[in-house]
Amino acid sequence: MSPKKQIAVIPGDGIGKEVIPQAVRVLEAVRADLAFTHFDWGADRYLADKTTVPPDGFAMLARDFDAILVGAFGDPRVPSNIHAKEILLGMRFKMDLYANVRPVRLMDASLCPLKGVEPKDVDFVVIRENTEGVYGDLGGVFKQGTPDEIAIQEDINTRKGVERILRYAFEYCAVHKKLDGSPRRRVLLCDKSNAMTHAGGLWQRVFKEVGGEYQQLEKQHMYVDALGMQMICDPRVFDVIVTNNMFGDIITDLAAGLQGGLGMAASGNLHPGKTSMFEPVHGSAPPISGKNIANPFGAILTAAMMLVHLGMIASAEKIETAVLEAVCQKKTTADVGGSLGTREAGEWVANLVSRG
Ligand SMILES: NC(=O)c1ccc[n+]([C@@H]2O[C@H](COP(=O)([O-])OP(=O)(O)OC[C@H]3O[C@@H](n4cnc5c(N)ncnc54)[C@H](O)[C@@H]3O)[C@@H](O)[C@H]2O)c1
Repeated sequence: MSPKKQIAVIPGDGIGKEVIPQAVRVLEAVRADLAFTHFDWGADRYLADKTTVPPDGFAMLARDFDAILVGAFGDPRVPSNIHAKEILLGMRFKMDLYANVRPVRLMDASLCPLKGVEPKDVDFVVIRENTEGVYGDLGGVFKQGTPDEIAIQEDINTRKGVERILRYAFEYCAVHKKLDGSPRRRVLLCDKSNAMTHAGGLWQRVFKEVGGEYQQLEKQHMYVDALGMQMICDPRVFDVIVTNNMFGDIITDLAAGLQGGLGMAASGNLHPGKTSMFEPVHGSAPPISGKNIANPFGAILTAAMMLVHLGMIASAEKIETAVLEAVCQKKTTADVGGSLGTREAGEWVANLVSRG
């Protein structure tokens, strides 16, 4: 028998602490060969003893775990959100999880705010560069608090970082199928190279170069502003979108709107061959936390993504099928049309999965 896969579980803050237990419950129900270790990293721990990440924390995660399942970070009691930055961006940057993969899938037409859009029309993936761009927090403030104040926020784009995320996107497109079983065919580069010419020029050149190695795939380009409009006019045109850190952050919240909102969106932070991290797209949502109303399906679908990454495809499919059934039967939280609480929606999916 193969040894159990070791999973680090970090629920974090706010609704992360409500949705992640439901994701774990579903993973237990599907009887995947997993062992869970829970960590209390987040605002409560930070406020108690000023720990964000214990010494050696990232090295320990990389050494002792096959995957990390994360909730969300952000708490109004920590206005600087320093803990969120150190834990979440720390994992992404220090563990070099350079590919943020965010599938966008509509499970039921009723969840999409667009007229006449069916599940078959919304089936694309956003691949976001996850370790560079403006989120590296390089820059500074000069003459702070004076009328002459200057704030500089640098946008970092390295040849290595750009090339590896573009290659990841082309490779992803070459090997993955759409939900209807047809091959993925198109990689679209989303940037703002008309205004951000230096960084945009690098992305454009490398896109052409790496794309040349994938003759069978179509290449497209859209400026991020035009893409935003296209996403709400006709999402059918998208297949695989690759973009930088900030644009990826923004367009995936927009894309989540097509799926039924942030409560439905899953993501993985990956580096092939390294311990990777999986988290729902949403944040800690303080206004709805502690009320048993947060949608746990984004977290549960994230757990299914993690299983695919670990090679446990049949278990992942069981979970996705159960969530789809829950959506169709309206066994959901109120944000997607049902009347169940967070725990009850998780329990419904777990029961279905355990019968399968
Ligand atoms: N990956 C992360 O940890 C992450 C991501 C985004 C924001 N944040 C942090 O989270 C905090 C709140 O940020 P925000 O309000 O901009 O974004 P958010 O994603 O937390 O919530 C925005 C709104 O979306 C809705 N929503 C989100 N998740 C939902 C769910 N599972 N079910 C039902 N409705 C849901 C709620 O109405 C919520 O108020 C901030 O501190 C922010 O920095 C963290």
